[in-house]
Amino acid sequence: MDVHILEIIYVAASILFILGLKMLSHPDTARKGNLWAAVGMVMAIIATIVLHKKDGQSIQNIPWIIAAIAVGTVLGWVMAKRVQMTAMPQMVSLFNGMGGACAAVISLIEFPHIDPAGGMMTGEVLTIMLGLMIGSVSFSGSMIAFGKLDGRINDIRSKALSVINIILLFGLVGMGAFIMMQDQPNTVLMYSFFGAALLYGILFVMPIGGADMPVVISLLNSFTGVAAACGGFLYGNQAMLTGGILVGSAGTILTILMCQAMNRPLSNVIFGAFGGGPSGGGDSDVGTIKEISISDAAVLLSYSQKAAIIPGYGLAVAQAQHACHELEKLLEDKGVEVVYAIHPVAGRMPGHMNVLLAEADVPYDKLKEMEDINPEMCNVDVVVVIGANDVVNPAAEDDPSSPIYGMPIIKVLDAKNVIVMKRSMGKGYAGIENSLFFHEKNRMLFGDAKDSLGKLISEVKNI
Ligand code: TAP
Repeated sequence: MDVHILEIIYVAASILFILGLKMLSHPDTARKGNLWAAVGMVMAIIATIVLHKKDGQSIQNIPWIIAAIAVGTVLGWVMAKRVQMTAMPQMVSLFNGMGGACAAVISLIEFPHIDPAGGMMTGEVLTIMLGLMIGSVSFSGSMIAFGKLDGRINDIRSKALSVINIILLFGLVGMGAFIMMQDQPNTVLMYSFFGAALLYGILFVMPIGGADMPVVISLLNSFTGVAAACGGFLYGNQAMLTGGILVGSAGTILTILMCQAMNRPLSNVIFGAFGGGPSGGGDSDVGTIKEISISDAAVLLSYSQKAAIIPGYGLAVAQAQHACHELEKLLEDKGVEVVYAIHPVAGRMPGHMNVLLAEADVPYDKLKEMEDINPEMCNVDVVVVIGANDVVNPAAEDDPSSPIYGMPIIKVLDAKNVIVMKRSMGKGYAGIENSLFFHEKNRMLFGDAKDSLGKLISEVKNI
């Protein structure tokens, strides 16, 4: 009877995961979706502790399990409360690594319990080996990704490393097959396999450019999902299986979408050493730049009919989202229609700008996707680019030698006037020059985004 109730709860939890994930696709429902999925997870955990039975025996060590859950919950809660918006990718990476470690630990614990009577060439052993390999790679890879994003680990760019990685990967697969060919579980071999998988995770992420970490984290996230699904398969646990498959497929889809939005194949992300390196494409001397004063910018904006704000990574760095919303409200009070144009890879993580602006209570209907705003750009009087660079770089359209050539951009030059707010002529993530800054339609407003917006707000108030 208990078993049936447990299975029904697992199905209910799986349904909550799926509905929660669906709700995450819209900002209005995202918070609720997160909560629903969390309720599903809590249900599955409690039901497992209370109702799971193996060979008629209930779960043991309950105080230890509760203590571990308590420690994990407190740590996770405090970290999530304290994290800065700009440090979210690091935190996601750390948490993802923990998921990978859990999946690997399940395999480590179950391996010695394999019954050699049934042979080692079984689906069960294969599942254990896959969970161990993928979980370990995800764990160590995520730790390196965390270190890089946090500025603790530098990139090691070497062609030799790519070759070593391919050899190591084949070695791992061969070693896994060798373990399965034994008559009985060999723990020494298994721990060597575990060590090799950890090493592969480190060497796999090491040569990838620090700026490409969001894509790598999403890829590692999908690995963790697959490793967790292996655990679900092993235990015949539907909730774990569904959860793992959902994480695996969502991570894969996100990885593909990010690559598509940057118009770069995944192989280029993994082997391309993009960003932060010497600037490719684009000339460093492409003309002269024109600056605009705060008062001129305030006049131009106040007397326009329609303005579009293009937020980028610099807005997040400056934490200028609240000031940005204040300027938008002031302009609206003066009868200016203001919209935000959101590029899918603006910032450093998926939905970065949406989350940032939601934090400042910018109404969601003011946010326009790139495909929707581009055709309307000719009706925009003033575009204000705040801390964005690559996502408005015309080289993506007109310079085939540029590393970002082919990436869709927000077509700011279709608008009547452009103001770019940034601190200097500093480059963006792709490390390349931006000819927009030298265009006759454009004027630069130099300074920290929050500072400049503060001054602009005071000036607009005086008009
Ligand atoms: P970027 O091209 O990285 O440019 C950001 C600009 O912000 C810099 O040029 C910098 O110039 C300026 N900035 C920095 N701090 C500032 C501050 N305090 N005040 C004002 N400006 C400041 O940003 P983007 O246009 O948002 O493009 C995102 C890039 O990241 C794309 O190349 C994209 O492919 C890549 N990427 C995104 C993702 C996701 S999922 N979003 C994932 C991987 C890669 P100054 O130093 O001169 O101020």
